[in-house]
Amino acid sequence: MRKKVVIANWKMNYDFHDTTFFIRNFLKIVFERKINHNKEIILAPSFPFLHISNQILQGTTLNIAAQNIHHKDKGSYTGEVSASMLKSIGIQKVILGHSERREFFFEKKNILLEKMKIALKYNFNIIFCVGESLYERSNNQQFKTVECQLKETVFQCPSNNIKYFYIAYEPIWAIGTGKTATFEQAQTMHEFIRSLFLEKYGESVSNKISILYGGSINDLNAKDLFSQKDIDGGLVGNSSLQIEKFLKIVQS
Ligand code: PGA
Repeated sequence: MRKKVVIANWKMNYDFHDTTFFIRNFLKIVFERKINHNKEIILAPSFPFLHISNQILQGTTLNIAAQNIHHKDKGSYTGEVSASMLKSIGIQKVILGHSERREFFFEKKNILLEKMKIALKYNFNIIFCVGESLYERSNNQQFKTVECQLKETVFQCPSNNIKYFYIAYEPIWAIGTGKTATFEQAQTMHEFIRSLFLEKYGESVSNKISILYGGSINDLNAKDLFSQKDIDGGLVGNSSLQIEKFLKIVQS
């Protein structure tokens, strides 16, 4: 059985108060309603709040992920945060390849490869995002784009590293737009991604890897998406900023 995973990507939205308020209240409800059974819940706050967030979650089954890391181990990179720094405060998961980082911070294949390498060096779990633009989908290039994104990054890893990865399929046209992929569109792409893992690494890897969907997931569409056979959960942006909405998504 593949792990079901739900990740809250808070992006650059929550300050200290919002972060700690959310986590404390969310935790209380999760345990009262026993809804963390059989699934992995991961919260991704901003850098300054990772430490306190991790402390609040100590001894629970919930996890924290960083939204980014720098691609070098250490050195003169003013303003940056390294994998080893995060490791030293107990962080073990990181989101890489998000389309907002690719677009606004020009993260291309070489940087992503270095980030992956550093993350693996410190035994991080990597939530690796792929997805096509609207232009690519309109030209029926979505499969080619996603295949290429995987081949030039994740597929450079030997098979014994794949256990550290979660893949998040996030069509760019669906992120933060309110336009979700239909569950058929998402399932078709997830099935395709799994077939690429099968081709590259064989059945035991492709059966185990969790492939999450991301892009305008909400409390109304989550159930349909998550009931598809190759969709193992979601990476949630906007709808993870409200406790009750996010809880409904988790329960889906
Ligand atoms: P969204 O963001 O749910 O607001 O579309 C998803 C993401 O960017 O991970």
